[in-house]
Amino acid sequence: MKIIDSVRELIAYRNGLNPDLKIALVPTMGALHEGHLALLKEAKQKADIVIISIFVNPLQFGQNEDLNKYPRTLEKDIQLCKSIGVDLIFTPTAEEIYPEGQENLSKVIPRKKVANCLCGKTRPNHFAGVLTIVLKLFNLIQPTQAYFGEKDFQQLTLIRLMLKDLDLNIDIIPVSIVRNSGGLALSSRNKYLTELEVSQASQIYLTLMETAENIKNKLSILEALNLAKLNLSTQGFTIDYLEARSEDNLEIVNNKNSPFRLLIAAYFGINKTRLIDNLRVFNF
Ligand code: PAF
Repeated sequence: MKIIDSVRELIAYRNGLNPDLKIALVPTMGALHEGHLALLKEAKQKADIVIISIFVNPLQFGQNEDLNKYPRTLEKDIQLCKSIGVDLIFTPTAEEIYPEGQENLSKVIPRKKVANCLCGKTRPNHFAGVLTIVLKLFNLIQPTQAYFGEKDFQQLTLIRLMLKDLDLNIDIIPVSIVRNSGGLALSSRNKYLTELEVSQASQIYLTLMETAENIKNKLSILEALNLAKLNLSTQGFTIDYLEARSEDNLEIVNNKNSPFRLLIAAYFGINKTRLIDNLRVFNF
């Protein structure tokens, strides 16, 4: 397994690869957990070469967000990547990726309607930061396929739309959410929760499932969402959003006739950790 932190070396490595190979990129911000490993394992099965990027991208953090305290566990990440058989870890510094700084940079403008709702409402420049780094990584690494978790469903949708709008020819491979035994979606930010909070936070997933059942069986979408918000608020969650939206362009869904996703973000615990999750609701 190679570990590279410079763009120059990365380009040399990429140029040395046989052009017929299937090259997988798994972009991450490190602090790897089973969710990331699921991406890597799937990439390992489907591609000839698996490249992971580990880079906490400052461009996608707002001023009052957790850039400085975001968990960084590089040594452990390296061991995990080794155990899976990753070919290359690209782990650059911010100076390497943004040599002229971040202020005066050309950036990707995400589709407004899709980026300004859900997480984009409270994190205004977040998705521009995500799409910019993802496009830079695509340009540097030129993968034939790239893997993204469904937990960040809005991110996945915007990346798919960027590919469409900018004519990029890369297979985007979504990977299902990995959950702990209680149902909590795995996330690097779960590290901010205490042990007790981890078990209490499973309530998010249980509520999503209950809401899906309520919509299927007896309640309108609006009634079911309101009930879920009430239940979660009384259990100490501060709801940022809980909405039903279409899968392809995240439009609000009011009727039950086509499949959609329930999407939630809520703050929880002593550190007010922001947790996100989603659940696909099938045709009835
Ligand atoms: O999902 C993430 O970890 C990040 O948003 C990504 C895609 C690696 C871009 O920094």
